[in-house]
Amino acid sequence: MTSKFFITSAIPYSNGLPHLGHAYEYVLTDAIARYKRVWEKDDVLFSLGMDENAQKNVQKAKELGIPTQELVDSMGEKFRELHQKTEMSNDFFIKTTSLEHKAAATEVWNRLVKNGFIYKKTYEGLYCIGCESFKTEKDLTPDGLCPDHLKKPETVAEENYFFKLTSFKEKLINLISTNDIKIIPEYRKSEMLNFLNQEIFDVSFSRPEKLLNWGIKVPRDDSQVIYVWCDALINYITVLGFPDENGNMQDYWKNGKTVHVIGKDILRFHSIYWPAMLLGADLPLPKEILAHGFITSGGQKMSKSLGNVVGPLEILDLYNSNLSEKSILGEKFGAEVFRYFFLKNINPHDDGDFTFERMKELYNADLANGLGNLVNRTVKLCEKYLEEKIDFPQINLEIEHPEFAYAMKDYDVMNAMNYIFKIVNECDGYMQKNEPFKVIKVDIEAGKKHLEYLRENLYIIARLLNPFMPTTSDKIKEIIKENKMPEKPLFPRYE
Ligand code: MSP
Repeated sequence: MTSKFFITSAIPYSNGLPHLGHAYEYVLTDAIARYKRVWEKDDVLFSLGMDENAQKNVQKAKELGIPTQELVDSMGEKFRELHQKTEMSNDFFIKTTSLEHKAAATEVWNRLVKNGFIYKKTYEGLYCIGCESFKTEKDLTPDGLCPDHLKKPETVAEENYFFKLTSFKEKLINLISTNDIKIIPEYRKSEMLNFLNQEIFDVSFSRPEKLLNWGIKVPRDDSQVIYVWCDALINYITVLGFPDENGNMQDYWKNGKTVHVIGKDILRFHSIYWPAMLLGADLPLPKEILAHGFITSGGQKMSKSLGNVVGPLEILDLYNSNLSEKSILGEKFGAEVFRYFFLKNINPHDDGDFTFERMKELYNADLANGLGNLVNRTVKLCEKYLEEKIDFPQINLEIEHPEFAYAMKDYDVMNAMNYIFKIVNECDGYMQKNEPFKVIKVDIEAGKKHLEYLRENLYIIARLLNPFMPTTSDKIKEIIKENKMPEKPLFPRYE
């Protein structure tokens, strides 16, 4: 029986263009979604979207002198363009200003009220708009700055609705330590348990409407809007049809497996606030949370003031405009190289670095000289000496490629990719050692055996690559099936 698998990326704020961190998260999530479809035969639903109700979106629109809705709509289009250009296979694209989402968020709120987990109180605290979150003194640097945004949070005194997070403390400790909610990687699980083992506080779950005038109104109290994190997290069940608890909610959220792929900076919201909200609303919990690290640029955090911010569309355009016409991958060329770089060279359990130089170097080594060259050399010989088409083997992943399957259990796409490129290197070594191009001239049968071996391995490489570089995978399969050298290479050298 096939399993139901639901996977999501975080929904970004709409206050700026997509950056590399977003694109990395998408490519990582998409690779896992495709792996589950292709290799585990799961029924997969994959969701992406936009976090549109944030105060920082309102602030940005004001700066630009445009209506907030106009800003969030135009940013939504930019993100969709990125999805398309990086070959996302998502099933949903949710916008939190949509009516369906309002209905879902309102229902969760009503349930939290009904179950006694929401109360009103006057509160004075420090709010960081960058994080869209209240801070306590111990969350800040010694100079009183938010460590993520290096800005002083503003002091606000408001009457807000509060969520009784404290009621769930013991339950959450239990769920996380037993892996009922599995946090990957393991060391981030310890961070969350450490947080929970200290004194925790209830969370402000609404903001005064007069300050914000944007977002989803608190039911029965128009003077307040629902706090943006409370609203945004609910997007994951809006797309499954909530408040209707049948259909996808039943199949995927209740009986299937849910994985949230997010960055390390928002793990607390996903592993603590979100499960607590679900428990409070009598709803089932997600099964796994994969918290990836940050993409740095030249070893430093990407920031506008350092001038080292790189946009993903810039990278895609660079590779496309220089090389796509010379490659048989055509307009998919940039996407394939982009996916290659971020999936093979960034450890999803840690931070990873991007520079244009490093990407070019690795492109030339692994793709132009490595995989691309292997395909060329092998197919050239096969076209000349092998007439008969081969039956490609069935692949039993767990038995034949356990290292690959094992890496993907914890979504370690980097190690899965390393495994594939190890086969590429082994084939190169095989070619050098056995010299089929020489052997075939003196012993045709022995030469053919070598070529069949190499062709079969190319097929395995293509199959394993499918979730990561889908178009490259299809092209290699097509080339070896036709047994004909293509007019252009897969990966021309980048001079
Ligand atoms: N809107 C919230 C998420 C709500 S999910 C219910 C948010 N948005 S964000 O635009 O700031 O970040 C979106 C995702 O991108 C997050 O998972 C975040 O960790 C990730 N990244 C943001 N910068 C990043 C890097 N430099 N590197 C890798 N990912 C990072 O948080």
